[in-house]
Amino acid sequence: MVEEKSVVTPWEVSGTVDYEKLIKEFGTQALDQKQLSSQKDAPPLLRRGLYFSHRDFPQWIADAEKKKTVSVVTGRGPSEKMHLGHLIPFLVAQYLQKRYGCMVYIPLSDDEKFFFKRALTQEQAEAYGEDNILDIIALGFDQQKTKIFRDFEYTTIYRYAALIAKKTTFSTAKAVFGFQGDTNIGFIFYPAVQSAHIYLPQFLHGSHRTLVPIAIDQDPYMRILRDVADGLGFIKPGAVHAKFLPGLSGNPKMSASDADNEVIFLTDTPDVVTKKINKYAFSGGKDTLAEHRAQGGNPDIDISFLYLKYLFEPEDKALAKIEKDYRSGKLLSGELKKILIDKINIFLKEHQKKKEQAKKLVSKFKLT
Ligand code: TRP
Repeated sequence: MVEEKSVVTPWEVSGTVDYEKLIKEFGTQALDQKQLSSQKDAPPLLRRGLYFSHRDFPQWIADAEKKKTVSVVTGRGPSEKMHLGHLIPFLVAQYLQKRYGCMVYIPLSDDEKFFFKRALTQEQAEAYGEDNILDIIALGFDQQKTKIFRDFEYTTIYRYAALIAKKTTFSTAKAVFGFQGDTNIGFIFYPAVQSAHIYLPQFLHGSHRTLVPIAIDQDPYMRILRDVADGLGFIKPGAVHAKFLPGLSGNPKMSASDADNEVIFLTDTPDVVTKKINKYAFSGGKDTLAEHRAQGGNPDIDISFLYLKYLFEPEDKALAKIEKDYRSGKLLSGELKKILIDKINIFLKEHQKKKEQAKKLVSKFKLT
């Protein structure tokens, strides 16, 4: 049997991802799931295991609990309109801001996507950046405590990136990112820019603990930027790492570069959502009604159940009932899908309305 090779880099995720192994390979720590599940006000994706790994998270929490200055940075590479999977780190940032009243910084790396995507023009990357900013504001961040910026617009970031670039050698960056002779040099410089995003709160407000909620594929940036903390007189930023949200058909990562049938976009209409889920969402149900009633379905591999668990059913009791009824065969696959479809459509209707309203708020949030 040929083993499917697993690849996890900031640019490629493929194969079956072994998350335990990544903790060892990347040198991160496993998150204490018991402690997280007891945080009743935390979003489901934090309480129910989507976040699995961290760097210095307890230290960040300790400072936040002591009411010391702490901050959060999480960003987005704007190469596309946004989909459900893109919300994950922002939901965590928003929760931490609500709970601890901390500053949140949200960089959009239009430069990164411009360097990386051959066909993407500078204008397109910037336009996606502006569009994505509306989606992010629509989530409801605190106007006074949230700063959003794009690299091509907030070019002051270059000054900070330069301070970091000077302390990072090519061999370090090459070892972490595996650059090749044909990599364009914009891309080789970019890690200094993402590092500058993450040190920005300390550049602006002095040394303090910063936390970066990210998917695990972004950890290589954390590795190289933590090395320069001492030289800058700053504290090493910490991170919490999420697993990938699988695509509709069960692909390891919901990715907009896949066909539309993998992804629910934040712009999808109710009809489109209904069609996508009914047609494509991988089901843990049985083939025939009789079999399903007799043997029950398997929520552990069911994409609709997974989306309810991590995003759309925050009530533990309600989720437990869905799980039990599905396992016993009382709840059918089509009925489970209907529960999810209705929840997604309620969320998207509200989101799309708030995105429209966000247009008036952009200047309040932006660093320019
Ligand atoms: N590189 C990230 C991505 O492709 C986006 C990003 C830019 C980011 N700056 C960041 C993420 C700072 C976390 C922190 O998704």
